[in-house]
Amino acid sequence: MADAQQTTVQFARGLEGVIAAETRIGFVDGNLGRLVYRGFDISTLVEQSNYEEVSYLLLNGKLPNKEEYSNYVSRLKKLKYLEKDEYDLISKLGKVSHPMSTLRTVVSYIGAKDPRTVEPDVAVQEDLGLELIAKMPTIVAAINRAHNGLDFVKPDPDLSYSSDFFYQSLGRKPSTIEAKMLDTALILHADHGMNASTFAAMLTISTLSDMYSSATSAISALKGPLHGGANERALSLIQKVGVPENAEKIIGEMIDRKDKIMGFGHRVYKVYDPRAKILKQFAERVTTANKQQVLFKTANKIEEVMISRLGSKGIFPNVDFYSGMLYYSIGFNPDIFTPIFAVGRISGWVARALEYVRDNKIFRPKALYSGETGPKKYVPVNERD
Ligand code: CMC
Repeated sequence: MADAQQTTVQFARGLEGVIAAETRIGFVDGNLGRLVYRGFDISTLVEQSNYEEVSYLLLNGKLPNKEEYSNYVSRLKKLKYLEKDEYDLISKLGKVSHPMSTLRTVVSYIGAKDPRTVEPDVAVQEDLGLELIAKMPTIVAAINRAHNGLDFVKPDPDLSYSSDFFYQSLGRKPSTIEAKMLDTALILHADHGMNASTFAAMLTISTLSDMYSSATSAISALKGPLHGGANERALSLIQKVGVPENAEKIIGEMIDRKDKIMGFGHRVYKVYDPRAKILKQFAERVTTANKQQVLFKTANKIEEVMISRLGSKGIFPNVDFYSGMLYYSIGFNPDIFTPIFAVGRISGWVARALEYVRDNKIFRPKALYSGETGPKKYVPVNERD
């Protein structure tokens, strides 16, 4: 039975609604369906900016001037290369492990080799964070190659963050529209409040652990199907439904069984996720261009069924519903979708971990004890029934 004192403390399962930190980085307005980075609406950034600039904005609180931008991009380009032993590890894990597990292991390995991770001060944490942002596309692209049994493609010093990620992953340079789509997707994934993986990153750094450990925690949290793993499953559901005519029956039965439909619902958004709105437009464009309209039309019908049945409960498509279809249509296989999420989110993880550790207080919530309070008599093992 719970202790009387404990029951007077507010208890929120899954920390729902609990405010545990203050931030100036980003704001998710779940009622109006707005996502804001440092005061900029996400749609403005998607239209007018690029991932490098958004990453700088998240980290530094303002858009860079020309010189700051050029320095930031040069630093990212200098740091994006991997060592031979890092490629070897990726090769070794290649097909035997899920790309998210490989990603977690490789990030942890790179951190383990770095003596700066032993007792980093904030300036070192900043350097490690920048290195992680720079290397993440190279790591994920290499994982994609190894997982598909392909040779590695080394970084191209002249390409932008997202175009080089595309190039190293798929072995060809993106078209203008493909480059814009991928850059948009990475911007839309860059930050999103205190979601599970960001919280994991902050929780780890709050112990004054290092940025590589923080990112390893975040990747571990992102892997789950209720968080980053939903995009892979959302595409698989759309493919299983196959054609729009099947949606009513299959999705209807799933709703009746109370199955969770991947790519729908959100802890914060109770209206249409603004990221899904933007990705849906791109998904329609790319599936039309690639003659995969049936995929888009089926997804659209699933959305219709879901909103008619569950919209009144505040359940709408989230970012994961259309992102998977978009990646698939430009040539990525489903098991690399969640690592792509990590490529976008790395800037948010690093920015929020740094913001937190600069004014640090170790996270240490309490649990409501509902077990027996005893004291019970100890019975030696040989005398127990
Ligand atoms: N399909 C069917 N019913 C749903 C769904 C869904 N996708 N999401 C929520 N519900 C229902 C749920 O069954 C519950 O109904 P009832 O009150 O009758 O028991 C109610 O809505 C509240 O759901 P919850 O699971 O208690 O809500 P939560 O805030 O704890 O969970 C969520 C949020 C995102 C984990 C959940 O909506 C979900 O599991 N969605 C599917 C997985 C998914 O798409 N995840 C990606 C989230 S967006 C990317 C990211 O930030 O990670």
